[in-house]
Amino acid sequence: MNGMQSRLKRIIKDTGKSLVIAVDHGMALGPMTGISDLKTTVKMLDDTGKVDAWLITKGMYTYSFEPSGTPGVIMRASGAATIAGPNLTHEGLTSSVEEALMLGADAVAASAFVGSEFEHETLVDLSKLATDCRKWNVPLLGVCGLGKNNEDKKKDPRFIALGARVCAEHGADIVKTYYTETDFEKVTSGCPVPVMIAGGPKCETDLDTLNMIYNAIQGGAKGIVMGRNVWQSPHPAALLSAAYGIIHENMSVKTAVELLEHSKNA
Ligand code: 5RP
Repeated sequence: MNGMQSRLKRIIKDTGKSLVIAVDHGMALGPMTGISDLKTTVKMLDDTGKVDAWLITKGMYTYSFEPSGTPGVIMRASGAATIAGPNLTHEGLTSSVEEALMLGADAVAASAFVGSEFEHETLVDLSKLATDCRKWNVPLLGVCGLGKNNEDKKKDPRFIALGARVCAEHGADIVKTYYTETDFEKVTSGCPVPVMIAGGPKCETDLDTLNMIYNAIQGGAKGIVMGRNVWQSPHPAALLSAAYGIIHENMSVKTAVELLEHSKNA
């Protein structure tokens, strides 16, 4: 087994799937409800033993990350655009593979905003990071974003399939993209690397979240990179266990909901 394979195993488990919790939002949005006190959120969710890996920025990884076990860590290596600035898609590289390895991460992540004004720059950054990832045998999570002008394309399987494939073609080893609700298998079948769905935007109910995860897995997704739907849920740990059941234990939505209700009352 080489370094790439052993690091990938820290993210994607023996079931071939993964439940990644994203807590990188503060890099653009500041201290949001649910991750304002990140140390407490990480500890509470990690205590469940159901988090396969975390998506986190280097600053929070350094100062606010005290998990109970030894979950995988995907370190964000792109950013530098905030909600207060002119354009959230104007990201650039904010770290390197060497820094991620030095800090102890297992993988790195960078965004590519396909179809946006900064499509070219973000894809060039993704490719350059992929080159360094190959050198060090570090997996690269390509975060396929769309940008404001393409919000309506989030549910368009043809457009999302394009974005996922483009990220893989530029060197991503795993692609995170949006769940399209219809024809998601067109997205997964056209992408040679594992596709994981993004959690957001926040679903209205926990049942909606579980249905989304179940349907995505049926459509060939290898898991989810989820943030708000877990740590802004009224019952984060219970929801996490139910999501884990669907992803790793072939649970139906009905059984997952029963588990959710049972864990809520435990
Ligand atoms: C933003 C991200 C988020 O981490 C990702 O979309 C998951 O979070 P959420 O489930 O809250 O959407 O990569 O760039």
